[in-house]
Amino acid sequence: MAKRDDADKFALIPVAKLTPEEAETELARLAAEIGLADDAYYAKDRPDLTDAEYDALRRRNLLIEKRFPKLKRDDSPSDKIGAAPSAKFEKAKHAVAMLSLDNAFNDDDVVDFAKRVRKFLGLDEKEEVAFTAEPKIDGLSLNLRYEKGVLALAATRGDGATGEDVTSNVLTIKDIPKMLKAAPEVLEVRGEVYMSHADFEALNARLEAAEEDPFANPRNAAAGSLRQLDAAITASRPLRFFAYAWGAASEDIAETQWDALQRFKKLGFQINPLTKRCKSVEEMIAQYKKIEEQRSSLGYDIDGVVYKVDRLDYQSRLGFVSRAPRWAIAHKFPAEKATTVLENIEIQVGRTGKLTPVARLKPVTVGGVVVSNATLHNQEEIERKDVRVGDTVVVQRAGDVIPQIVEVVKDKRKKGARKFKFPDRCPACDSHAVNEQNPNTGKADVDKRCTGGLICPAQAVERLKHFVSRQAFDIEGLGEKQIASFFEQGIIKEPADIFKLRARQNDGKIDLYTYKKTKDGDIYLDKDGHQVATNKKSIQNLFDGIEAKREISSARFINALGIRHVGETNARLFAGHYGDVAAFYEAAVKARDEASAAYQDMLSIDGVGALVARGVIDFFDEDHNRAAVDRLLAEVTPRQAEAANTSSPVAGKTVVFTGALELMTRDEAKASAQALGAKVSGSVSGKTDYLVAGPGAGSKLKKAEELGVKVLTEEAWKKLVSV
Ligand code: IVH
Repeated sequence: MAKRDDADKFALIPVAKLTPEEAETELARLAAEIGLADDAYYAKDRPDLTDAEYDALRRRNLLIEKRFPKLKRDDSPSDKIGAAPSAKFEKAKHAVAMLSLDNAFNDDDVVDFAKRVRKFLGLDEKEEVAFTAEPKIDGLSLNLRYEKGVLALAATRGDGATGEDVTSNVLTIKDIPKMLKAAPEVLEVRGEVYMSHADFEALNARLEAAEEDPFANPRNAAAGSLRQLDAAITASRPLRFFAYAWGAASEDIAETQWDALQRFKKLGFQINPLTKRCKSVEEMIAQYKKIEEQRSSLGYDIDGVVYKVDRLDYQSRLGFVSRAPRWAIAHKFPAEKATTVLENIEIQVGRTGKLTPVARLKPVTVGGVVVSNATLHNQEEIERKDVRVGDTVVVQRAGDVIPQIVEVVKDKRKKGARKFKFPDRCPACDSHAVNEQNPNTGKADVDKRCTGGLICPAQAVERLKHFVSRQAFDIEGLGEKQIASFFEQGIIKEPADIFKLRARQNDGKIDLYTYKKTKDGDIYLDKDGHQVATNKKSIQNLFDGIEAKREISSARFINALGIRHVGETNARLFAGHYGDVAAFYEAAVKARDEASAAYQDMLSIDGVGALVARGVIDFFDEDHNRAAVDRLLAEVTPRQAEAANTSSPVAGKTVVFTGALELMTRDEAKASAQALGAKVSGSVSGKTDYLVAGPGAGSKLKKAEELGVKVLTEEAWKKLVSV
């Protein structure tokens, strides 16, 4: 954060009210602050401002320059290109996705985790299930691919599917063997790169001696050092590595997690000495306590303990749910806390109209990260904690989640501090904000929502941002900033407009950019002076990025619509169940009648309940939503949903399980069928391909026989899917 000293004494004066002298001081301050932020972001890998804060600085700078063109500085930030995030490293696609872990925050969560595992595997209380417990290292994960025993590729996790190729830097890390003896033909070893406290302090001392900025914490130092373009710099910064997992392997590497780690050790990797094999939840929690006690003397940062089911055959039966394995969990240490002052409470409007109060804080470092915002969730939370502007508050940050306000330090409350009055109108469109009723409980919802719907600009912008976001259309070159700017200018009002941009620009109906020559080349500005592109090629790239998404998966399309309660996971469920967007659309319209077969069918989707169904039905019940979807469908073509596994004999088939299953639990049966690309339904209909019937099957079996649906025993099903 920039220091709050004299230099920014005019920072709060609106541009329209600045005197020329004040404007000059402001331009100097903004040039300096933007310069520092650029440097932190691009050169040091250590952004110190949020995107919004950074944008606000650039915007203010431009506005001042517009008002006082003569005062524009030679080194004005507007003439500098804020360089796109560098394509410094080659991208590397992971052969096996790098997943994340679910979290447990207390002992009960761990007990539940062990129970879930048992239930899924159909094991009773008496049967022993062993788990490994090991420290969760606070560094960054790395995939090391060895081919014929030689380190062929080292890649960061990235988004889990694609990371960055950092091989040349990794070659300088002593803990990482460059060659393996007696390893499988292909072996990917995964683990955490980290920096010890001692090395971190020595590095910071060197940086400070050289008048360079120190790193905020060992994790940032490790990341910054690994992501150096110059491998010689990486080499001069001692990084370490613990192996704890693996990706692709041309042969089975062990039968248990424990043995896999022992094998890594033999191959020359460091494995964490605090790893223990535990035979009960009590032992797991005891190991957690032991590790927690040693936390401060370990000499490196850890942020919890990871438990993993020991038997690898169990691990593969358990599989994954969206992005995390069912067979592992991270038991986090309690969050770090700090005290600061609440400077203001602002209300943000989300894409579904939800009003979220956000606390603006006096910047404070919590666990190595500067925190200046915290969520306050909703009105109820503000009232319960009695949070008032000006209060001294305790904030906590747990992992990557948004910081929270834990409590108010009441002793420090200033006299006259007034209770916060939650608005009953939307700050963006002034429509009434109401607490809706929850259809499941019949109670008033804690969240206030703007009732402005389509007329609310805040909701519209958020919906568009969601539409182009990474899990939805993921349009290269069209990020949140551009969307906001195009929306403000009225160029993009709804998703379909995105796909009309190029034609409208070519026909001269819109003028997307003005461009300006600078000493560094041409830059392109929108009407407000926002920089939208750095050269002609970027404009072409934007159009290309849009064209590339005219064909899109049905799941992404459905997610992109921003239907309430329908995110990535549910969108995938719908795409999988209905096969394509047209069928989903049709079903959603028909399902309006809760007595209809379409409604029942929607509820039969595993994971879809009444709330989700209501979200879908309400969305398609609105004429304007259907019209907007129709216009979008005239521009883009959603692909037929691919079955998860098209080569399996049950891919695309609809299966119903009934009766008492004996060879597998119902959860396991469902999950394995879905993993093979089958749809699992709760009721038998003409669309059912297989009914898998265990002992005691009743009405479903009868119906299947009447309809001529193929009926399988559990054994026959297992045989069918085992090829
Ligand atoms: S196992 C499929 N073990 O935690 C699960 N992860 O929150 C693979 N991490 O991305 C991860 N220590 O960067 C595992 N002992 C450990 C770990 C560990 C740190 C990190 C890893 C992962 C993140 C998930």
